[in-house]
Amino acid sequence: MKIGIIGGTGVYDPGILHDIRTERVDTAYGEVELKFGHYKGEEIAFLARHGWTHSVPPHRVNYRANISALKDIGVERVIATSAVGSLNPSMKPGDFVILDQFLDFTKCRESTFFDGQDGRVVHVDFTQPYCPTVRESLIRAGRELGLAPHEKGCYVATEGPRFETPAEIHMYRMLGGDVVGMTGVPEVVLAREAGLCYGTVAIVTNFAAGISKAPLTHAEVVEAMKESSKRLRDYIMRAIDIMPRKRDCSCGNATGAVEGS
Ligand code: HPA
Repeated sequence: MKIGIIGGTGVYDPGILHDIRTERVDTAYGEVELKFGHYKGEEIAFLARHGWTHSVPPHRVNYRANISALKDIGVERVIATSAVGSLNPSMKPGDFVILDQFLDFTKCRESTFFDGQDGRVVHVDFTQPYCPTVRESLIRAGRELGLAPHEKGCYVATEGPRFETPAEIHMYRMLGGDVVGMTGVPEVVLAREAGLCYGTVAIVTNFAAGISKAPLTHAEVVEAMKESSKRLRDYIMRAIDIMPRKRDCSCGNATGAVEGS
């Protein structure tokens, strides 16, 4: 089993891996630069969602190329990190949240591999958007490290790159959202379509607009991620230690179940 890590804002450093090499992977959707390294004898692939210098804004990330590249090199399980704002008073800056649902408010992204061009109409089930095994590993790892992760959380995906208005945040909260970010969708969608196991550990960097009275800045998000980076790195590696090597979930054939017009 190959494991992939998708590092979001503030996570560009595959620091714990040994013998790191960089490789470009050519996909049907464009080229992707990945880093490969070894952890306890296993090869891990690492991808910086926003590029290695954080130069790609959320709405311009080539999500299809990123997921295709991981799939093409044989990755089966993905742990993604995501900096988020919180709408839920119990989820505070510095907290970790293991996502279990999402609400999609993105507007203009390539968000499927099944765009009908090959004459197939595919509708994938999203009752469980995130892999239960990856989630369980993240929950256990967080507990073991004493990080008390929130074991569920509904992620609101916005188009960005602007932050939200307080009125939007109020609406998202009424709809059941817990945290808000700009990159979780379509990444989770594409991963599931591609048959990958995918889970996200979200790191709360701030209270969302209107809950926090001060204006939000990207610098504040990056600074908060820096503060969490050591804990996050330990967290991911512990989750990899725990992850069962044999796949026991149905993520690998998520598309098989429902296909038709
Ligand atoms: N809104 C959207 N995305 C974010 C936020 C936020 O408040 N914090 C970190 N990413």
